[in-house]
Amino acid sequence: MEQSAATTSASSLAALRLMLDDPADAPEVVVPLSAAECDLLADDHMVCTCNNVSAGEIRTAMQDGSCASLDDIQVKTRAGGACGHCLPTVAGLVDLEILRARPA
Ligand code: FES
Repeated sequence: MEQSAATTSASSLAALRLMLDDPADAPEVVVPLSAAECDLLADDHMVCTCNNVSAGEIRTAMQDGSCASLDDIQVKTRAGGACGHCLPTVAGLVDLEILRARPA
């Protein structure tokens, strides 16, 4: 009985180590698409195909003041909220609109 508890404890520790060392559980860093690349996207370009969000919708939400950050855009449009493949583009569009809104 005592050996069984020790074995369970050892396997639990091994499982915990795997979880802690698993890079898949680490949050992914989103590297925004460059401003130059974002500038080339037409307003009707579908940025997030999971949630049908276009570049124009993201630009409009940033320009009309209803959103001021990537988090705001994700809440309002749901862009990036499914597979996440569009997040670099969404983040790039947000960054570009923030840069454009800054006084010169
Ligand atoms: S393409 Fe945007 S969440 Fe999948």
